[in-house]
Amino acid sequence: MDTKVLKPTDENIRYAGCLIANGRLVAFPTETVYGLGADARNGEAVSAIFQAKGRPGDNPLIVHVSTAEEIPPLVSEIPEGARLLMEHFWPGPMTLIFPRSELISDEVTAGLDTVGIRMPSNPVARELIRWSGCPIAAPSANRSGRPSPTTAAHVYEDLNGRIPVILDGGPCEVGLESTVIDARGSVPVILRPGGITPEMIRAVTGDVRLDEHIMAPVAEGERVRSPGMKYRHYAPKAKTVIFDGITPKVIDEICRRYDAEQNRGGSPAILGFETHNYGGRKVLSLGVPEHPDEAAARLFAALRELDTEGRTLALCEAVGLEGIGLAVMNRMGRAAAFDIVRLE
Ligand code: TXA
Ligand code: MG
Repeated sequence: MDTKVLKPTDENIRYAGCLIANGRLVAFPTETVYGLGADARNGEAVSAIFQAKGRPGDNPLIVHVSTAEEIPPLVSEIPEGARLLMEHFWPGPMTLIFPRSELISDEVTAGLDTVGIRMPSNPVARELIRWSGCPIAAPSANRSGRPSPTTAAHVYEDLNGRIPVILDGGPCEVGLESTVIDARGSVPVILRPGGITPEMIRAVTGDVRLDEHIMAPVAEGERVRSPGMKYRHYAPKAKTVIFDGITPKVIDEICRRYDAEQNRGGSPAILGFETHNYGGRKVLSLGVPEHPDEAAARLFAALRELDTEGRTLALCEAVGLEGIGLAVMNRMGRAAAFDIVRLE
């Protein structure tokens, strides 16, 4: 199969919508990361997503809608807590868990009795949903285990020859996947942190909890509330280590390990802030520490670059856990299998 990369003109979005309506797959931009979409009601089309990605069948997909009117048929109930969050943060980088209806194919929910739904703000995504005339099930458009794609080129790298069309909407604004929230109980629980931060949620609901697996690995056989947490995601081939603590100590330790790796014939790289001095060593920039949103937008491209450049060791500066920093550290932590060195 030839994979076409198309500019998101009206005509191309209409064409892509037709493909989805006819049971085919389309990769498309959202404000978080690129998604790989199919008609959420069509079990065969949804199975093709799992095949193209090489995704484990027990990891459910998020369903994307463009208006609130599309939701009632997809769910058996809209919990009160969810309603409040929908009003404040949709359209945008937030997914909510609902009790599912029969309309959603079993392949989407991977056997769960719930469904994750999101209303993206990206205009290309919204037009695509509108033209396809159906709810679109879409995971991130990467091969399973790789970092989520934040450009059409990343999607092409992973899925060339496996899908008919990629809509190229340029780089994604947020750069990390949506915040996944279970708001069925009295206090909303964040299952996966993202662009809608705990602080933003607390300001609306008064309280919020973080799932215990956000900053910790999942043990073999342990039960989790969001199946995606079980898998070692975003892992580059390079051994990846994170350094947290007093900045000069972090920089010293990173330089020490960098030089040791190089002397051993390896190829190290630093994921760090451009305002810090690494004396000519190879740095993939996360921007500046005061702007964790820049680190969010750059992280996945940097992790991909490690592989393209054949790096053997990635030494990463930790980001503060405030705001979107929590989401950055969650993804970086998983790339490093939570190997975090604390330097106080
Ligand atoms: O920003 C995003 O959410 C992107 C764009 C394309 O919308 N999509 C995305 O999908 O990141 P994916 O499949 O890569 O991640 C979905 C995550 C997984 O961790 C999955 O386990 C969790 O959401 N999830 C989906 N449905 C769920 C459910 N019913 N209950 C708990 N977790 C669920
Ligand atoms: Mg994914």
